[in-house]
Amino acid sequence: MTVLITGGAGFIGSHTCVEFIAAGHDVVIYDNFENSNPIAVERIAAITGKTVPCVTGDIRDQPHLEAVLQDYNCQAVVHFAGLKAVGESAVKPLAYYENNVQGSLALLKAMQSCGIYKFIFSSSATVYGTPEFLPYTEDHPLQAMNPYGRTKLMIEDMLRDLYASDPKWSIAILRYFNPVGAHESGLIGEDPQGIPNNLMPFITQVATGRREKLSIFGGDYETRDGTGVRDYIHVVDLAQGHLAAYDFLKIPGCTAINLGTGQGQSVLEVVGAFEHMSNQKVPYEIVPRRAGDLPEFYAQTDFAQKTLGWRAKKDLREMCKDTWNWASKNPQGYEN
Ligand code: NAD
Ligand code: UD1
Repeated sequence: MTVLITGGAGFIGSHTCVEFIAAGHDVVIYDNFENSNPIAVERIAAITGKTVPCVTGDIRDQPHLEAVLQDYNCQAVVHFAGLKAVGESAVKPLAYYENNVQGSLALLKAMQSCGIYKFIFSSSATVYGTPEFLPYTEDHPLQAMNPYGRTKLMIEDMLRDLYASDPKWSIAILRYFNPVGAHESGLIGEDPQGIPNNLMPFITQVATGRREKLSIFGGDYETRDGTGVRDYIHVVDLAQGHLAAYDFLKIPGCTAINLGTGQGQSVLEVVGAFEHMSNQKVPYEIVPRRAGDLPEFYAQTDFAQKTLGWRAKKDLREMCKDTWNWASKNPQGYEN
């Protein structure tokens, strides 16, 4: 009995593979390496001491997926594969609808035709849109603000419709807040291509000397120090949240669950913690706000604790320490 992990070579997928293997599960990675490197798969094997089966393929290829699901006797799917850059999604919306929506559709059809009904989906806090109240609870109104967010919402809707049509399905929709950090070994971590869009990879590249300084997008928000506030979660905690969700799939249903810490941190607090844990200076300047950014958001985490028996354990200092350990050992990512 095996778990298919689409996008398993990527940032969150690779850490999730490690946790599933460590818990005694068999996994098979399915990835087209569009935004990842096969070296990540070797590193997962190095951490776990186990050979990790990996199939190169595209989630839009339904016949190939069906063959892989059958060949490996899969009983569940954890679905990470997709495109995730918000800015790019506004420039290339069709690529996002095709990869994320059409890809998820092909994957679900492949599962249905193979009689596999357990599914964990990578959603995002972005589906909540402008906060009507904080912390976001799972029943906060949903409103996507860009094509990337709309793909996540469309897939969530598709999953709710699917369960309503056939109660054999067990579906966990996991809404991630801001994943950062790396495995404590420093062997796997986030390896963005080109100029990073997200805060932690940008800070990291400034600290390793790949970029001159950080631009802080906005210093005039109504937050405690004027900079944006987010709920950063260690990627290993997040990966363990998937393991807890896998156990939860024993019960049929379709349930959306926040995976965050419940704590908001400002950009300046993240910079300060990173400098402290890495002993590096992170030069920055405050520039105008980035279009589409929200001032502040963070998760209500009670539901995750109640349903999954899971909560995040690692604090911002550990997130920064492990990010720096990965980055200082792999200053050019996997292409060292
Ligand atoms: P990532 O880009 O590191 O991983 C995605 C993986 O999917 C990559 O290995 C990529 O090569 C693969 N992939 C992309 N398209 C594919 C396709 N058509 N067929 C097969 N493989 C394909 O991203 P990540 O940060 O690990 O994110 C994983 C998932 O979590 C994504 O769905 C993303 O939208 C979601 N998510 C991420 C964040 C975040 O901040 N990282 C936040 C919320 C949600
Ligand atoms: C972004 C995405 C969101 C996605 C999330 C996690 C946008 C508008 N939203 O959210 O959909 O779910 O990533 O992948 O892109 N910041 C800087 N300088 C930088 C980078 C970021 O000051 O160079 C600030 C931002 O203004 C924000 C905070 O750092 O206040 C976090 O930014 P980021 O890591 O991009 O995540 P989100 O904006 O939360």
